[in-house]
Amino acid sequence: MRRSDWLFVFVLAMTVAAVAGGLWFSDSESDRARRSLGGEPTVAEGVQIGGPFELIDQNGTAVTDKDLVGHWSLIYFGYTFCPDVCPITLTILTQTIEALGPLGDKVTPMFITVDPKRDTVDELHAYAEHFHPRMRFLTGTDEQVTQVTRAYKIFRAIREETPNDPDYFVDHTSLVYLVGPDGKYVTHFAHNTPAAEMAARLRRLL
Ligand code: NI
Repeated sequence: MRRSDWLFVFVLAMTVAAVAGGLWFSDSESDRARRSLGGEPTVAEGVQIGGPFELIDQNGTAVTDKDLVGHWSLIYFGYTFCPDVCPITLTILTQTIEALGPLGDKVTPMFITVDPKRDTVDELHAYAEHFHPRMRFLTGTDEQVTQVTRAYKIFRAIREETPNDPDYFVDHTSLVYLVGPDGKYVTHFAHNTPAAEMAARLRRLL
């Protein structure tokens, strides 16, 4: 073999070793959490939850899926005009983080709008005052929101009775997703899970 061929074999061997090593050491916190869930129901077996997105938060800071890496996230999709389910859920998330005490610092609560038309950065900035100070409120263009709702399998549709009403309602999936420090889906909670119960489940997973 020529010298360049040996170099190629060496690089290939190192690549294989690196990939194998990566797989071997990929037993991250969230992998352990996934295993510890055992028979916990997932959204649907084999359905991938999550994917790339580009949005902007209530302070005008760009946020992408890469910002999910390195900490736990509780992600909820909704809209600020929602009269009941959304504000109640965000209050539960706020109480959950508080109930976790110091452990709560590991978790970033996140709200992603399904109504970017009305939920501007300014609107989200004002809305954020009512909830946990570390909660991030994300919006974007309609295309960007479509992208993220598709990635997370979130249904959103303007309620049929109110299409021409400026005070329209939006029907939407109201699950709370737990995303691990690897940026991947771990499990989910029903929106009306009491804060104490959500905190108790999180304490076992984090
Ligand atoms: Ni809602």
